[in-house]
Amino acid sequence: MEQYIIRGGNPLVGEVEIGGAKNAALGILAAAIMTDDTVLIENLPDVRDINVLLEAMESIGVKVDRISRHAALLNSEHVGEVSVEYEYIKKIRASYYLIGALLGKYKKAEVPLPGGCNIGSRPIDLHLKGFKALGAKVSIRNGFIIAQADHLHGSHIFLDTVSVGATINIMMAASMADGYTIIENCAREPHVVDVANFLNSMGANIKGAGTDVIRIRGVQKLHKTEYSIIPDQIEAGTFMFAAAATKGDVMVKNVIPKHLEATTAKLLEIGCEVEEFDSAVRVVASKRLHSTNVKTLPYPGYPTDMQPQIGVTLALAQGTSIVTESIFENRFKYMDELARMGAVVRVEGNTAIITGVEKLSAARVCAPDLRAGAALVIAALAAEGVSTVDDIIYIQRGYECFEEKLRGLGAEIERINSEKEAQKFLLRIV
Ligand code: UD1
Repeated sequence: MEQYIIRGGNPLVGEVEIGGAKNAALGILAAAIMTDDTVLIENLPDVRDINVLLEAMESIGVKVDRISRHAALLNSEHVGEVSVEYEYIKKIRASYYLIGALLGKYKKAEVPLPGGCNIGSRPIDLHLKGFKALGAKVSIRNGFIIAQADHLHGSHIFLDTVSVGATINIMMAASMADGYTIIENCAREPHVVDVANFLNSMGANIKGAGTDVIRIRGVQKLHKTEYSIIPDQIEAGTFMFAAAATKGDVMVKNVIPKHLEATTAKLLEIGCEVEEFDSAVRVVASKRLHSTNVKTLPYPGYPTDMQPQIGVTLALAQGTSIVTESIFENRFKYMDELARMGAVVRVEGNTAIITGVEKLSAARVCAPDLRAGAALVIAALAAEGVSTVDDIIYIQRGYECFEEKLRGLGAEIERINSEKEAQKFLLRIV
């Protein structure tokens, strides 16, 4: 089992390049099957979730040509299957985007029902409600969602909860429905806009993405395109908090600063300096940070995917902070691990009360999920001594070359697979 071994205590200093947005890429890759033409997708992150989705797509007949580490040509002319195997959805929930894409193009999809996950129960009732409103019959049989329609028609859909997944999934299916669809109370996340832009570049007619009302005029056919995915705002935000927690000075490059506003606002509030450039942000933490309160909300609010990163940073800030998680019910599991590093934290329901300590101490901790795993790496980088982080397979789902990028900023971190490799690291750092 791979682990990270980390000697903390050094401020992170330097420059880091951010890759393409994983969550945008998941939607865009699925949407690429909606044309028979070849599609070029660039700025694709080389992370596990993306590679598993590409395998799932190959399994239904999509021809995937990874022309470079960050670019792929996809051709879906010979998609012979509309049924995706459980093996893939088990590894990556977002393969549910294949329902919207297959239903839109082939008017039929069979995809295993995704289960809950480490951050809580993840219903997809709103996705299904949207497909039904577009005229699909949706049933659940033997663990599969089966969605089919003779033809899809436009509809007026109101989403009860703001959902990124439902917005993207319904938008894809509606792009190839007959007539006009209005989706209200949509998610406004940058990756919703990116998927809409991608579909529009293939000939779809989607307006309003990025606002809470999306209007779609269905088209019969989509065509080839070349498209570059937006930078990953969560990867960027993770490095911004890594700079803050280690009292560092990091230039985070290849970002869209506008997408990082909620993160930037919180960093300023706790006492960091944040400088914005056209496609970079620089975070400097020259003194001890101070407490704040934060509540996760749909975009443009503070992202739930950045909650653990601010949580570990506040564990070192002066004063008491309150972190409220309003999107997923089980996103504080990392707090127990953080407490093992000396943090003073108390979780009550969807609220964590954190009283900052001067220093965290090294410990062996376990990544409970993707973002919390990255946050524990930040905690270990800030802590005195040598920590190990177990279960880093979660982190690899969404961060490309995480340890290499951190090493580029002066971190002492190594990915290890055995006690012998741990010993080698320890010998090297003494
Ligand atoms: C996406 C992101 C995930 C991020 C989340 C919230 C991807 C692949 N994943 O997940 O990283 O943490 O947005 O920003 O982009 N809900 C329902 N019924 C539904 C769908 C959702 O009740 O049918 C609820 C969820 O339980 C949750 C809230 O809506 O409380 C938001 O979830 P949603 O935005 O759908 O999250 P995902 O799209 O799964």
